Amino acid sequence: MWNDVAVCPGSFDPVTMGHLDIIERTAANFSRTVVAVLDNQIKSPLFSTAERCEMLRKATGHLPNVEVKHFNGLLVEFARAEGAKVIVRGLRALSDFEYEFQYALTNKHLAPEIETIFMVTRPEFSFLSSSGVKEIVRFGGSVQGLVIPAVEEALLAKRGALLQK
Ligand code: PNS
Repeated sequence: MWNDVAVCPGSFDPVTMGHLDIIERTAANFSRTVVAVLDNQIKSPLFSTAERCEMLRKATGHLPNVEVKHFNGLLVEFARAEGAKVIVRGLRALSDFEYEFQYALTNKHLAPEIETIFMVTRPEFSFLSSSGVKEIVRFGGSVQGLVIPAVEEALLAKRGALLQK
C-alpha cells in the first residue's frame, strides 16, 4: 500500500458500480482515499451535491479509509488542501482517453507535484455511465446490479424530473 492520500474526483450524478469499483481499488492501495464530489455550477445535475454525497457515503460505508467531500473550483487546489499527491480516474474505453488526457495535462501544468493515475475499469462495467443509468430509468428499465439499491430507489424517486429533462 502506498502510504499516501488519493483523491477520486467526479460528478457522481449518481454513483454507479463502475465508480465504486474504482473507489474500492483505490482504497485498497492508499492509506486514505477522499472521494471529491464536484459542486456543479455549469452542468445541471439531477441530484443535489448533498444527495450525491449521501449516496456515496452509503456506497462506501464498508470502506473505513474512504471519506466523501465536495469541492468547488480547481480539483488540484482541493487535492493540495487534502494533502493528496495522487488523483485517480477510471478509464472505460478509448473514447474516455482524449478528455482524460487533456484534464491530466492541465492538472499537471497547474500542480506539477500531483500525479494523475488511471485505472482501467472492470470489463463488466466498461459500458456503464451515470448518464446511461439515468436514461434507463427515464425509459422504465431496470438498473439493478448497475447501482446500489439506495441509488436505484433515489433514481426511481426522481423519475418525474428525469422525464422532464
Ligand atoms: O465525473 P466527471 O464529470 O467526469 O468529473 C469531472 C471532474 C470533476 C473530474 C472535473 O470536471 C474537475 O476536476 N472539475 C473541477 C475543475 C478543474 O479542476 N478543472 C481542471 C482544469 S480545466
